[in-house]
Amino acid sequence: MNLTNSSLNKYGFKFLDNDKTNLNNFISDVKNIVERFFNNEKKLKKLSKNDFNKIVFKAQQEINKKHNPVKLFKKYNKLFKKEFSSKKIYTQHYFYLRAIRPQNFTKSKNSIGIHRETFQGPKWFKNIINLWIPIKNCRKDNAINHYEKSHKLEKNKDFFLEEFRLPIQKGSYSHKTGNLYLERKIKFSKKRKEKRLFKKNNSIIFSGELMHGNGKNYSKKIRFSIDARFIIKKHFKHNIIQSANNKPYFALVTI
Ligand SMILES: [Fe+2]
Repeated sequence: MNLTNSSLNKYGFKFLDNDKTNLNNFISDVKNIVERFFNNEKKLKKLSKNDFNKIVFKAQQEINKKHNPVKLFKKYNKLFKKEFSSKKIYTQHYFYLRAIRPQNFTKSKNSIGIHRETFQGPKWFKNIINLWIPIKNCRKDNAINHYEKSHKLEKNKDFFLEEFRLPIQKGSYSHKTGNLYLERKIKFSKKRKEKRLFKKNNSIIFSGELMHGNGKNYSKKIRFSIDARFIIKKHFKHNIIQSANNKPYFALVTI
């Protein structure tokens, strides 16, 4: 990952203070939408994975009608211009809503395993940057997991990949809300420990090469966040189709 084009630190990420950056305004708007769809926690915790993800998908669609990543980059153009040495950015045009139920209430796996964006995408995805924004009930014990400085690790030297299938149907609501049907297990040459990536009241931008995943939710409440990938124009190669809605994945935005 070429970190010289961005303000990401040697650990491959940067925290953005939601108060100082004014992202809190945006967050409370999205939170209002989330609360309309998820007002009965008790009932929601009992739903099957697919029934639950059906609601996540509806809320995700509603969020994107009002607040998609293109609009966010435009609204906060000064912030992102400062963080990246480019005015032209290709961003995922659509936010994924992550609603992670507490571990105690679901028997099935409800988080996304640790990965790099290049595990499911082409090589040039190594320059992708992730934007993660906390929406509700985000705490250290339900935050994203990652391996520290893992954006610097080399495949087939520092780690090896093993593919396995998950019981997620292609085109199902689970798939449409960003869950994978094919996962890869990472085998490290040297033992490494997963660590939470979280700072209270902060959003995060991080390298797509930093190995990360949703992490299990050990709190008592459903935790909500949104995320999108983006890439500086000079690293962008060509568009792909987003499986959630069959539309082109990236949109160009000038900030
Ligand atoms: Fe990811």
